[in-house]
Amino acid sequence: MTIDINLKKEIDLSYKVTIDALPKLNFDTKVAIVTNPTVSSLHLDYLVSSITAKELHVITVPDGEAYKNWQSIEMILEGMFEARFNRNSLLIAFGGGVIGDMTGFAASIYQRGIDFIQIPTTLLAQVDASVGGKTGFNNKYGKNLVGAFHQPKAVYADAYFLQTLPKREFAAGVAEVIKMAVCFDADFFRWLERADLSDEQQLSEAVAKSVLTKARVVSQDEKERGLRAALNYGHTFGHVIENETDYTGFLHGEAVAIGMVMANDTAVELGWMSEEEAGRVKRLLVKYGLPVSYAIKDVERFYETFYLDKKSADSAITFIIPKSLGGVEITDAIDAATIKKVLQRYAVN
Ligand SMILES: NC(=O)c1ccc[n+]([C@@H]2O[C@H](COP(=O)([O-])OP(=O)(O)OC[C@H]3O[C@@H](n4cnc5c(N)ncnc54)[C@H](O)[C@@H]3O)[C@@H](O)[C@H]2O)c1
Repeated sequence: MTIDINLKKEIDLSYKVTIDALPKLNFDTKVAIVTNPTVSSLHLDYLVSSITAKELHVITVPDGEAYKNWQSIEMILEGMFEARFNRNSLLIAFGGGVIGDMTGFAASIYQRGIDFIQIPTTLLAQVDASVGGKTGFNNKYGKNLVGAFHQPKAVYADAYFLQTLPKREFAAGVAEVIKMAVCFDADFFRWLERADLSDEQQLSEAVAKSVLTKARVVSQDEKERGLRAALNYGHTFGHVIENETDYTGFLHGEAVAIGMVMANDTAVELGWMSEEEAGRVKRLLVKYGLPVSYAIKDVERFYETFYLDKKSADSAITFIIPKSLGGVEITDAIDAATIKKVLQRYAVN
């Protein structure tokens, strides 16, 4: 006998991203803010004064990518069990991408899934990590290898929080903004060339344009079966740089900035982008103090490290290569010789 389990139902996962001063938030459920000591010491009072809830709890996990692990997820789950959360309870992710990814994941598994809200406090999280529902954590096998797609119920991006962001962290977020523009929107790129992101108004506009871009991509491809992979522009090269420098030499966004320059060099090599366009991207990155070069000690080893990112060592390497400004190609058909020719320009020996 065969019995059909019919689960073909339409689920509306839509939500709003509010790019503005944080409004007053009222909940008739139990709520926990998940944060870290850095963000909490700077901004928790402000957030707490904006929230009313049936019960308001705060769960604090250690700060840093090194703590984006199962132990921190356990701490979040424990906080919820201690506070006797039920399936109507709500988590609020209050911090950068690390807090956002872990909070979202904890929400996705607590009692098989509860709601969460993102209140991102880094530029990177406001323009990228808080939108799109990718959640997860790192383990000894690599970054973000355990996770779930779990969309937030709402995102509140308030530029006020960014005032306390260290300069390098700010620039790392700008790298992701530039990434969106190069891959998807030439007008946005030209706007960025003229813009001054130290101006709060223009910064909010940049956040809005980035979120709109990401929203368009995620709406078409939530589970990264195609187009969404283009958001990894700069990441294939960047991950190798992060790996070679033990994840301590560069912030993620800085490694991505160098990776974008390398991807652009590849595009020029393939005739997909002009030297002039690649130069414009580099100038924009430099304008925000982002690194655009990296000394490769061993080109062969650098190339081999691409495979560490892959699930299977014998599969082809996927590169995200821009096509002019505002276009992008996801391809695993670039031959090793072309990539190594580009890498050779960065070689020091
Ligand atoms: N889910 C996604 O789609 C997605 C996309 C991109 C990146 N990510 C993830 O995001 C993470 C990186 O995010 P990140 O760059 O925000 O790093 P992060 O969360 O580590 O934050 C960077 C640092 O800034 C501090 N900080 C946060 N807000 C601050 C503020 N307002 N003032 C001063 N300091 C503040 C943090 O405590 C931390 O020390 C990575 O783990 C990456 O995997 C996820």
